[in-house]
Amino acid sequence: MSAQVQRPSQVEAAVVRGTEEKFRLEKLELSPLGPLDVLVKVAGAGLCHTDLAMRGPAGVPLRPIVLGHEGSGVVVAVGSQVSKVVAGDSVVLSYDSCGGCGNCRSGRPYFCAAWFDRNTGPGLSREHATLVDAEGGLVNNSCFGQSSFADHSVASQNNVVKVSPELPLEILGPLGCGLQTGAGAIVNVLQVRPGQSVVVFGAGAVGLAAVMAARICGAAPVIAVDLVEERRQLAREVGATHALDGAAPDLAHQLQRITSGVDCAFDTTGKSAVIATAVSALAQGGTCALAAIEDEVRLPAQQIVFGRRLTGVVEGNAVPDVFIPQMIEWWQSGVFPFDKLIERFPLRDINEAADASVSGRVVKPVLIP
Ligand SMILES: NC(=O)c1ccc[n+]([C@@H]2O[C@H](COP(=O)([O-])OP(=O)(O)OC[C@H]3O[C@@H](n4cnc5c(N)ncnc54)[C@H](O)[C@@H]3O)[C@@H](O)[C@H]2O)c1
Ligand SMILES: [Zn+2]
Ligand SMILES: [Zn+2]
Repeated sequence: MSAQVQRPSQVEAAVVRGTEEKFRLEKLELSPLGPLDVLVKVAGAGLCHTDLAMRGPAGVPLRPIVLGHEGSGVVVAVGSQVSKVVAGDSVVLSYDSCGGCGNCRSGRPYFCAAWFDRNTGPGLSREHATLVDAEGGLVNNSCFGQSSFADHSVASQNNVVKVSPELPLEILGPLGCGLQTGAGAIVNVLQVRPGQSVVVFGAGAVGLAAVMAARICGAAPVIAVDLVEERRQLAREVGATHALDGAAPDLAHQLQRITSGVDCAFDTTGKSAVIATAVSALAQGGTCALAAIEDEVRLPAQQIVFGRRLTGVVEGNAVPDVFIPQMIEWWQSGVFPFDKLIERFPLRDINEAADASVSGRVVKPVLIP
């Protein structure tokens, strides 16, 4: 059953059709909303490394697709069973979850049984409005339950977080994925305590959010490692006590000189060699958390047997309804200056934004429809 609501019948979206193809703006027909759908007029959408990974060969089965999973905007219409938001509400869009599986019911939507289907899959477990192209073909719009590289996004009741209309809505989208993942890795997964040492590998949006959160937790030292000098500089600006060159042949020794063994390590590079360095840098009893899925992990079993731990991070293991307002509060009090990472691009310049992200020039492009 679909709600009878006022909504635009057409959406303009950045569509990816083939492997390695560029984004192309297209006008698409929007079908009626499903009962739990929330139609959002997009104010801005962050571009995350994961969008670029999904644009590559990993995203093939889903083509054609509208990517984008860090949207924010204003609700324009809701499905018949939506009670959480109403038209006119300002919202940040986050990852999707079913709300009904065991992990969702016990407050862990980041481990939702339908996670892959709803976020990186075809979204078959969700009855939602679809997009149809000029030739009558379906265009997948289930990317993290939002596909927000568009002027309108079909989200669901489960992945919208209401925020104050007083906030700069267009730059809030990245709170829904990259920033939540980095900050949540520190707060929810590693549970960093005052005085603990932290090292973060990769100073992109995820890593820099982790650096900021580590300082908020009272960690010291907080060491950032990246290959790009501008990113190391940015890491210092947002709170890193040290910033090291990831290509330095004596990196392990440099880490040892700063702290004889780190309590908490966080890898955002996904590179086997970096993960090995991260685990080796741990003190016994220390934990390394991984956010990226690029390579295999190969470690001497001895390192784990003698008390080092390795774990993973899904969206910061955060409940968006709790964690996004928390990050906004930090930002308002000046300790989480995520706006320093953002550069705005018109949605029509999405290919330039992607290039700027790949080259390392821009940490977090935000696309404005
Ligand atoms: N697990 C999750 O829920 C989740 C959520 C969001 C993003 N991600 C993933 O997290 C990763 C980071 O995302 P991002 O948006 O910050 O990406 P990004 O590309 O902006 O940042 C990665 C950083 O790692 C640095 N780097 C690369 N190789 C390095 C090396 N050998 N040593 C040191 N630094 C190195 C790069 O210079 C770059 O600054 C991506 O793989 C993304 O897909 C995971
Ligand atoms: Zn992401
Ligand atoms: Zn679930």
